Amino acid sequence: MSQRTCLSVILAAGEGTRMKSALPKVLHPIAGLPMVAHVVKAARRDEATEVAVVVGREADTVREAVLPFAPEAEVFLQSERLGTAHAVLAAREKIGRGYDDVLVVFGDTPLVQAEALADLRAELAKGAAVVVMGFRAPDPTGYGRLIEENGALVAIREERDASAAERAIDFCNGGLMAIAGEHALPLLDAVKNDNAKGEYYLTDIVEIAAGQGLKVVATEAPYENVLGINNRLELSEAEAIWQRRRRRELMLDGVSMLDPDSVHLSHDTEIAPDAVLEPNVFFGPGVKVSAGARIRAFSHLEKAIVGENAEIGPFARLRPGAQIGTKAKVGNFCEVKNAVVDAGAKVNHLSYVGDAHVGAKANLGAGTITCNYDGYAKHHTEIGAGAFVGTNTSLVAPVTIGEGAYIASGSVITANVPDDALAFGRARQENKEGLGRRLREKLAAQAGK
Ligand code: UD1
Ligand code: CA
Repeated sequence: MSQRTCLSVILAAGEGTRMKSALPKVLHPIAGLPMVAHVVKAARRDEATEVAVVVGREADTVREAVLPFAPEAEVFLQSERLGTAHAVLAAREKIGRGYDDVLVVFGDTPLVQAEALADLRAELAKGAAVVVMGFRAPDPTGYGRLIEENGALVAIREERDASAAERAIDFCNGGLMAIAGEHALPLLDAVKNDNAKGEYYLTDIVEIAAGQGLKVVATEAPYENVLGINNRLELSEAEAIWQRRRRRELMLDGVSMLDPDSVHLSHDTEIAPDAVLEPNVFFGPGVKVSAGARIRAFSHLEKAIVGENAEIGPFARLRPGAQIGTKAKVGNFCEVKNAVVDAGAKVNHLSYVGDAHVGAKANLGAGTITCNYDGYAKHHTEIGAGAFVGTNTSLVAPVTIGEGAYIASGSVITANVPDDALAFGRARQENKEGLGRRLREKLAAQAGK
């Protein structure tokens, strides 16, 4: 990107009543990340861009949502909602500090892409004073139409003011704009509210600038960039578009997906090439999957790391803090939480491994359970490398199983097991000859049969 300085003003003061939610609209998540943070991420792809967010309420919550992506972001309060131009002016003080470019972006258009914002700014660099992000609408009803003459934009005509001929135009206002910094405040200050809604419309700066002989142009962006979210249905549509985009990127980067549409990613999911995702896999936030790993069908992962060539699932759950080593296996109906499973270890069937360390090549039999919680505190289970834990074993933490130890099936292990020991944690079996038959006869007599 150019050396030009830029301020992105993100408008997020809308009430979002159609979301029917206690949560401000721009904090509703796409891929687990608040919409407004997606917008900030796109704006910050150019690192020299600074961010101002204009909110109507909950300034602190919005600030928290954007700070990870723009530590210097400033939040401004628009206490009265008097229109989009008025909203931009809530950040007057910051705009006044002087930037080459001022971008106006909506907090509820989470699919806006850095490339589309760069296109807007490229026109400013070529001398435009105002640049409008246009798009071709399959159905333009309801959008402002872009009226062009000789490649220059002369006006934005809202639906209700448009002639029949103008309504036939399918080149519409996406709402996002770039303004040359030196013209930003004078243009915004010139906007009046003498319209039907009595609002200060940002769109009016197009005619004001054109009337002053300044250069005003429109760019054309793919529709998704301007897709505004007003209700839960549109939220789900944006989610689907985001998911499709990200899956496509990952597949082109070398990740295999057997049924892409059934894979749900998070905004920060990292998957290395040659990983394979089977159908119906859900990624919560904070998951990294290493090269060659296979995530089998119906697995649910969250804040977890999967090592190279490891195998997860089918029907596995990796909860926060699960770290699965190279070539390790976590099989069907197993849950791993806050536990490190070292290389080559196997947790193959029906197990719960929580607050634990499983050494390399250890083998946990079906139904191995770490009893990590006593109702008050969590306790650690240490399982040495190469240990073999028999099926249906309860490991009552805190407890340590030595390297190479062997635990008999059905044990309840409450004391540490030394390296290479064989532990029985269950009552010794007794057989009483003929007693089974006698018991049966007695019960039959009692029942009168
Ligand atoms: C706007 C455009 C319209 C365009 C459409 C595309 C204007 C006047 N009109 O209309 O030409 O086709 O977007 O979606 O810009 N906001 C505030 N404070 C306010 C008013 C709005 O922060 O006082 C924020 C809203 O939260 C929202 C954004 O600005 O994020 C856009 O406002 P909205 O009322 O949705 O504008 P539209 O009527 O959709
Ligand atoms: Ca809107």
